[in-house]
Amino acid sequence: MTYVLALDQGTTSSRAIVFDRAGRVAALAQREFAQLFPQPGWVEHDAREIWATQHAVALEALEQVGGPSQVEAIGITNQRETTVLWDRATGQPVANAIVWQDRRTAPRCDELRRNGRAATRIQQKTGLVIDAYFSGTKLEWLLDHVPGARARAEAGELAFGTIDSWLVWNLTGGRVHATDASNASRTLLLDLHTLDWDDELLELLRIPRAVLPDVLPSSGVLAETESSLFGAALPIAGIAGDQQAATFGQACFAPGMAKNTYGTGCFMLMNTGAAPVASRNRLLTTVGWQGPMGPHRTAYCLEGSVFVAGATVQWLRDGLQILQSAPEVESLAAQVDDTGDVYLVPAFAGLGTPDWDGYARGTLVGLTRGTTRAHIARAALEAIALQSADVFGAMTRDARIPLTELRVDGGASRNNLLMQMQADFLGVPVVRPQVTETTALGAAYLAGLATGFWQGGDEIAAQWQADRRFEPRLPEPQRQAKLARWREAVERAKGWARP
Ligand code: G3P
Repeated sequence: MTYVLALDQGTTSSRAIVFDRAGRVAALAQREFAQLFPQPGWVEHDAREIWATQHAVALEALEQVGGPSQVEAIGITNQRETTVLWDRATGQPVANAIVWQDRRTAPRCDELRRNGRAATRIQQKTGLVIDAYFSGTKLEWLLDHVPGARARAEAGELAFGTIDSWLVWNLTGGRVHATDASNASRTLLLDLHTLDWDDELLELLRIPRAVLPDVLPSSGVLAETESSLFGAALPIAGIAGDQQAATFGQACFAPGMAKNTYGTGCFMLMNTGAAPVASRNRLLTTVGWQGPMGPHRTAYCLEGSVFVAGATVQWLRDGLQILQSAPEVESLAAQVDDTGDVYLVPAFAGLGTPDWDGYARGTLVGLTRGTTRAHIARAALEAIALQSADVFGAMTRDARIPLTELRVDGGASRNNLLMQMQADFLGVPVVRPQVTETTALGAAYLAGLATGFWQGGDEIAAQWQADRRFEPRLPEPQRQAKLARWREAVERAKGWARP
């Protein structure tokens, strides 16, 4: 068999990508699905639509390469933290999925933080900060607000899962309820040191153990798909959250190697090796992957999460309507040499690393009569790079060795102007690989290593090829001034929606 199929279930679209042995894309299919905004600060998905689109694109991609007989294994990667609760008997969700961007549980997080002892325990055990971003308070909210859900969950009738679990459940016709350690580490319920659900955390967040999936390694055959779905049963052999998968796909196997993915948000992860490292700069400690270099060997990462990055450009297109298409932002922004001191802080879903403010909201400052849509487009691109520069700063302070370059991927990494800005604001080179579909590639690698399609990390690392390297050009005093001015703008966005 000549291919591995990756299912990449993202925040705005479901994608299926088939890779050949050289790690090249052999087929790709993609479908967007509805984003639901029932109240300010709320973001939901219909989990049934997620499954329907994911199944449809997998069928399309398989057809492009001659059917399932050509495919050795399936790897799954997914938007993380998004929370689904479903009925084990019918397989139907009991409510819409609550998306990672949803802020409805910010007041509950305030309450948890006020309990100093609990807050410390949660942070020590999970490596996370207490924030509405993670699944734990979203699941608690569903159990409290969907009529009858808590009692039914306690009776073992309901199943919770992040999107990977939801896909595995559907791919196996409800036979398997499982997640992997990288996704589980984003729930606020997993002890990062034991890689198991933790009773103290479950009690603090009032979660019955009966709803939880099994936690499995990220690489390993965990089940076969229902044969009716694709016309043949295919092994599911890898699972990882999308940002961890991208780190794997970028071959960041050695401690100190880091990548930044430019998708809906921006997520920078640095491999820190075989033991979790606590951050002193408000980064997250997270599981990178468990296996495949040694079946139970775990790689941990430090992560900085920026909630809104590429979505800023979508907002310029769909909300402000100053663009016809997203790629147009590059030429529009290039019409001006600078933003004219305009800053756009895209805190549409609060602020993640390093500010962690669930009540921050988007802010546009510095407008004058001379401001044009070109200045705003440029400010939007700068905001993506400046948010990532804040994260990089935190990471540099946490790392014991200096970070000498940053690997980049994701849709917006193809924007050359943005990548140059990124190198300028970081003060180190930014390197883009030839294959920027690294999220799906990472999931394919995790699956293909489990089945022997690829032999090991060395073979994968050798497939990684640079496409372009962006050298920093901004003099250091100007770089520092830019970062400082940006921080002033960020301060103005903070706390805006606090009740
Ligand atoms: O933590 C959220 C992240 O997994 C979402 O990724 O690529 O869908 O923006 P993406």
